[in-house]
Amino acid sequence: MNGNTFGRVFRVTTCGESYSGCFRKTPDIPKELYGGLLCIVDGCPAGIHITAEDIQKELDKRKPGQSKLDSPRLEKDRVFIFSGVMENQMSTGAPIGIVIPNNDIEDVHVGQYHDYKDMARPGHAEYTFMKKYGQFNDWVGAGRASGRETVSRVAGGAVAKLILDRYGIDVIAYTVESHGIKAKRIDYKTAKENYRKNNINCPDLDVAQKMEEDILEVRKTGETCGGVVELLIEGLPAGLGEPVFDKLEATLAHALMSIGAVKGIEFGAGFDVATMLGSECNDEMYWDKETGRVKFYTNHAGGFLGGISNGDEVRVRLAVKPTPTVDVVQRTIDAETREDVKLAPITRRDASLLPRIYPVAEAMARIAIVDALMQFKGYRAMESLDEKYDRM
Ligand SMILES: Cc1cc2nc3c(=O)[nH]c(=O)nc-3n(C[C@H](O)[C@H](O)[C@H](O)COP(=O)(O)O)c2cc1C
Repeated sequence: MNGNTFGRVFRVTTCGESYSGCFRKTPDIPKELYGGLLCIVDGCPAGIHITAEDIQKELDKRKPGQSKLDSPRLEKDRVFIFSGVMENQMSTGAPIGIVIPNNDIEDVHVGQYHDYKDMARPGHAEYTFMKKYGQFNDWVGAGRASGRETVSRVAGGAVAKLILDRYGIDVIAYTVESHGIKAKRIDYKTAKENYRKNNINCPDLDVAQKMEEDILEVRKTGETCGGVVELLIEGLPAGLGEPVFDKLEATLAHALMSIGAVKGIEFGAGFDVATMLGSECNDEMYWDKETGRVKFYTNHAGGFLGGISNGDEVRVRLAVKPTPTVDVVQRTIDAETREDVKLAPITRRDASLLPRIYPVAEAMARIAIVDALMQFKGYRAMESLDEKYDRM
């Protein structure tokens, strides 16, 4: 299995599965070492103050069982930093190793997966995993395709956050649409102020309650629903990204589309550009009297021109599909008997992924931005441009 590392200079590698360790009940080793999730952050500069609490804080945002909207799964994720940080909590420049043991791996849950192990949940990854990994496929809790895999991403993103804080670059993600209920367009300041005030993480407080009530209604029917998560990056300087294969939008799309259940992405005006006239779509520019810098009257571009950040706010939207595990009978196949069968999975699930996906989106965006920032700083250290371009 390839593709477990993201980034070129700031590199985050993850491993571990939803139920790794569930078969290892060796009495002579502590339960924490049975199995779990790992994250290795390579390329973190020396001298970053990193504590397990910093990482824990981010992980606590994505764990289920926190509100009535979530799955009853109890992920008491406890973070251990096992390398790359000295006792003064400073990174040494060596790879940072992070471990999060799996705790909630009771036999009853493993048994549930075993009962269905030859059946592919529609909308989940079992069919493609069976095709690719055959009889060796990890059938417990979807293996690497489990939402739990995102724990390691969030751990890596927490380290990226500590680096971005130094440069005043802020990444926030929040819900703007749930099952067709839409929030109004919101500016960064209001979003930042309000987005943690409810379980659905919607900064439009007027519609947040409606969204939550609707999800609870959907849940009663055994169904699930999706929505749209918006991501804002504030304070990103101009000049990050490369103009051809490594356009920063492309890198961000790679980072964000790699999250399970994300099926669409838009930057700025996104798909609305299809109906605009050229002069409407173009973001006109002016010299800002206060700062002496170039500014844009509008931001349909979403913060990029030619794949390079233009110094404006980055605005990205992600379409999140309904949680594939539903409590509704659906048609599927049995790989063992080669029969068509009906399936209503009984495993634990979230009626909507929206309350839990935002920290994952923030983490992936942060990792991508730190990586681009490091490449940008390396380039800047070697170029010799006329100073007037610096002052634009
Ligand atoms: C944070 C997070 C939690 C998730 N939890 C669940 C879950 O409890 N049940 C489920 O069926 N899918 C869950 N998913 C979605 C599946 O992981 C995803 O749909 C599946 O791997 C198939 O990938 P695809 O939807 O990108 O094709 C979760 C995804 C994320 C990002």
